[in-house]
Amino acid sequence: MGKALEDVRILDFTHVQSGPTCTQLLAWFGADVIKVERAGAGDITREQLRDIPEADSLYFTMLNHNKRSITIDTKHPEGKLVLEELIQSCDVLVENFAPGALDRMGFTWERIQELNPRMIVASVKGFGPGPYEDCKVYENVAQCVGGAASTTGFDDGPPVVTGAQIGDSGTGLHLALGIVTALYQRKSTGRGQHVLAAMQDGVLNLCRVKLRDQQRLERTGVMKEYPQHPNGTFGEAVPRAGNASGGGQPGWILKCKGWETDPNAYIYFIAQAPVWAKICNVIGREEWTTDPDYATPAARLPHLKDIFAEVERWTMTKTKFEAMAILNKYDIPCGPILSMKEIAEEPSLRKTGTIVEVDHPVRGKYLTVGNPIKLSDSPTEVTRSPLLGEHTDEVMAELGYTADQIAHLRTVGAI
Ligand code: COA
Repeated sequence: MGKALEDVRILDFTHVQSGPTCTQLLAWFGADVIKVERAGAGDITREQLRDIPEADSLYFTMLNHNKRSITIDTKHPEGKLVLEELIQSCDVLVENFAPGALDRMGFTWERIQELNPRMIVASVKGFGPGPYEDCKVYENVAQCVGGAASTTGFDDGPPVVTGAQIGDSGTGLHLALGIVTALYQRKSTGRGQHVLAAMQDGVLNLCRVKLRDQQRLERTGVMKEYPQHPNGTFGEAVPRAGNASGGGQPGWILKCKGWETDPNAYIYFIAQAPVWAKICNVIGREEWTTDPDYATPAARLPHLKDIFAEVERWTMTKTKFEAMAILNKYDIPCGPILSMKEIAEEPSLRKTGTIVEVDHPVRGKYLTVGNPIKLSDSPTEVTRSPLLGEHTDEVMAELGYTADQIAHLRTVGAI
C-alpha cells in the first residue's frame, strides 16, 4: 500500500527531541527523511542517557525511526556545496537549532529561497519574535513559560512540570501540521514558506483552558470547580488545581485497594452529571440523588471533597481494574492510573501498533511508541533508526556523486 507523503523529501536538520518527533511523524507518513548530522558526533542524544555502552541510546532510537542518516560538515566549504544540492532536491528543511545557527552557517531564508523557491523551511524555536527570541530553550523551560508549570501541582506546593513532553513532542506535532499545511498551500502557490512553531506558543496552546480560567477568575473572582472552593482563597492568577478535571465535569484521583504499597493503585474518577444517580447507587449513597445539597451539579460544587472522599471509601475496596470494570458497566467515566510497566505490557497496545518492538543491529530488541495517528490508507511500519552516517554514500550517489568524489569529500572532512 502507498504512503500519504511518499513523494515528499525532507532535509532533516533536527536534533534532541522537538524537531526529531516532527520528522519521525512525517517519515511514518511515508516521507523520505534525510537526517543531516556531524561526522563523528551526530545528534547529541545518540550518546545521552545510554543504557548500553557504544549503542545509540533509546533517547535517540525512539525519536528517529524510519529516517536515513547522512553526515555533512555544513561549515566546511565543500560540505556546504553538498547541502546546497540537498536543498535543491528536497521539499522541506526542518530545523531546531538555537536561534541564528542556520544563518551563521550561511543558509538564511533568502539564500535557501534562492536555491529552491519551493522549499518549505520549518523551525522549532523556544520563543516567537520578541524579547526572548534569541534564547535557547529545553522542554521544562517551555513548560514554565507556556503556562503549564504555574497551573500544575497542588495549591500548597511549588509549580510542577509534567512528564508529558508537551514542550518538545507537543511542539513537534504542531510543526508537523504546519509543514503538511504548507505543502498543501504550495500546490496552488508553487512557493515555499517559512513555518515557525515556538515552544512557548505550543505549550500555551495546550494550556488554552487555563487562559479561559484566568478570564473567568478575573470576571467572577471564584472558580467553583477548583479545589480552592469553598474553603480556600483565590489570588489574581489561575491557581494550581491538583487533580481537578479542568472541565465542566468534576473529577479527582482516588485511592484503590493496595495503594499503601503500590504507588499507582489509584483511579481517576469523574462525577459526570448524567450518571449521578448511578454513581450514588454504586457507592451506596442513594439518598444523594434527591438530597438538595447533592442532587444538582451546582449544589454539589461546594461538596466535591466530601463526595470524592465517599467515592474513595468505595474505590479503596476494589483494585483499580475492578473499579474500572464496575464503573464502566454503568457508563461512569474513569481511568486507572497505569504505570509505564503496565503500559509496556498491555497486549491491546501492541496489537494496534501503539507499542512496537523494534530490532536494532547494535542494541538488539527494544520497545518504542509507534505512530499514534492511524491512517487507513497509509499504514505505518516502524523501522529502526539509522546508524550515524549509514546512508551517506547512498544519498550522495543519488545526488550524482561518484565513489571517487565521495572518497575525496570524506578525506577532506566535508562529509
Ligand atoms: N555541521 C557543522 N556544524 C553543525 C552541524 C553540522 N552538521 N550541525 C549543527 N552544527 C552546529 C550549529 O551550526 C551550531 O553552531 P554555531 O553555534 O556556531 O552557530 C552548533 O552546531 C550548535 O547548535 P545548537 O542548536 O546551538 O545546539 P546547542 O546544543 O548549543 O543547543 C538547543 C541546543 C536545543 C538548546 C538549541 O538548539 C535550541 O534552543 N533549539 C531550539 C529550541 C528547541 O528545539 N529546543 C528543544 C530541544 S529538544
